[in-house]
Amino acid sequence: MKVLVAVASRHGSTREIGEAIGEVIAGAGFVVDVHDPDDVESLEGYDAVVLGSSVYVGRWAASARAMVDRLAAGLSSRPVWLFSSGPVGVPAVPAGDPEEVGPLMTRLGARGHRTFAGALDRGGLGMAERAVVALVKAEHGDFRRWEDIQDWAQQIVEELSAEIERRRRSAVR
Ligand SMILES: Cc1cc2nc3c(=O)[nH]c(=O)nc-3n(C[C@H](O)[C@H](O)[C@H](O)COP(=O)(O)O)c2cc1C
Repeated sequence: MKVLVAVASRHGSTREIGEAIGEVIAGAGFVVDVHDPDDVESLEGYDAVVLGSSVYVGRWAASARAMVDRLAAGLSSRPVWLFSSGPVGVPAVPAGDPEEVGPLMTRLGARGHRTFAGALDRGGLGMAERAVVALVKAEHGDFRRWEDIQDWAQQIVEELSAEIERRRRSAVR
C-alpha cells in the first residue's frame, strides 16, 4: 500500500508534523511520499492520503484547499485523514478545530481529523505576521507534542492494516 502525506506549511513546523506522521506509517511497512499539496498533480498509485495544513487567521493554506478542489473525486474514493496545526501556547489557543474542517470532512468522507498544537518562531515571521501575533498576544515557542502526533499516525496504521485485511478476505472469497 502506498500512502501520500500532503502537507501545506508556511514556516516549516507543519511540514515536520507531516514528516513525523510519514515516518510512523513508513515504519509499519507502507510506502510513503511526503509532498507539498502544490506538487501533487494526481493521486494515481496512492491507496490512501493524509492531508494537513497549517492554519493562518482561521483558514487552511490556499495550496491545501486548492488540492481538495483539484483532486476531490480521487480523495473521496480513497481513505483520507486530515490534520491541522496552529494553536499555540499553554493552554493551546485557539481551542477547537478550524471552521472549514467540518465541511471538508463531509465533502471528502474523511475518516478523521486532528488539530495539533503548532510552533511560533518570532525570528522567522514577517512584519504583518508579527503584527497579528502581537494583536492576539499569541505565545511564541514550539508547542508540538510528538507523542500525540505519533499516536495519531499509529491509529492510521491500524486502520490501514484493517483495510488490507478486509481486501485480502474479499479477494479469497
Ligand atoms: C499571522 C499568524 C496567524 C495565525 N493564525 C492562526 C489561527 O488562526 N489559528 C491557529 O490555530 N493558529 C494560527 N497561527 C499559528 C500558526 O498556525 C502556527 O504557528 C503553525 O505552527 C505554523 O505552521 P507552519 O510553521 O507550518 O507555517 C497563526 C500564526 C501567525 C504567524
